[in-house]
Amino acid sequence: MTPALFFAATIIFAAGVAAGTLATVFMRKKTPKVSRGAVLIDSSKVAGRGAFALKAIKKGDIVERCPALEVTDKDIGGELLNYVFYGSAEDRRLIAMGYGMMFNHSSTPNVAYYREDGPTGAELVIYALRNIAEGEEMYYNYGDDWWTTRGETGE
Ligand SMILES: C[S@@+](CC[C@H](N)C(=O)[O-])C[C@H]1O[C@@H](n2cnc3c(N)ncnc32)[C@H](O)[C@@H]1O
Repeated sequence: MTPALFFAATIIFAAGVAAGTLATVFMRKKTPKVSRGAVLIDSSKVAGRGAFALKAIKKGDIVERCPALEVTDKDIGGELLNYVFYGSAEDRRLIAMGYGMMFNHSSTPNVAYYREDGPTGAELVIYALRNIAEGEEMYYNYGDDWWTTRGETGE
C-alpha cells in the first residue's frame, strides 16, 4: 500500500468511526423508552430494569399475556436461570416472551401470574392483584425458594 493510499484509508476509517459515534449519541437521545400495551420498561429502584404501569390498571385486569416456550432445565443455564419460570414438571422451565421476564420481585406484590394452555400453545398471563396507579412499578412474588436457592434475600 502506498503512503497516500494508507493515508486515505486512515481518513476514511476515522470518518466512519466519528460518524458512527455521532449516530449513536443522536439515536440514544431520540430513542423512546420501550413500551407495549400497559407496560413500560424503565430503571427500577430495586434491580436494573423493571416493568411499570403505563396507565392505571384495575384489580383483576390482565396486564400482559406472554407467549411462553416450555423447555427442559438442561436448556437453561447461567444468568438465564434468573429469568425463567417453572414449567409443567420439575425438570421443565417456561420462557415467557413479551415483558414477562422483566418483572422484579416483591414480598408485597401488585401482580401475579398463571399459565394458560391454549390452542396455539402456552401463555403466561400476568394480572393485577390490586388497583395499580400509572407509573407504579409492578412486581410479582418470586417465592421464598427462588431466593433461598440463590443464597439471597429479596424485599
Ligand atoms: C426476572 S429478572 C428481573 C429484571 C431485572 N431487574 C433486569 O434488569 O433484567 C430477575 C433479576 O432481578 C433481580 N431482582 C428482582 N427483584 C429484586 C429485588 N426485589 N431485589 C433485588 N434484586 C431483584 C434478581 O436478582 C434477578 O437477577
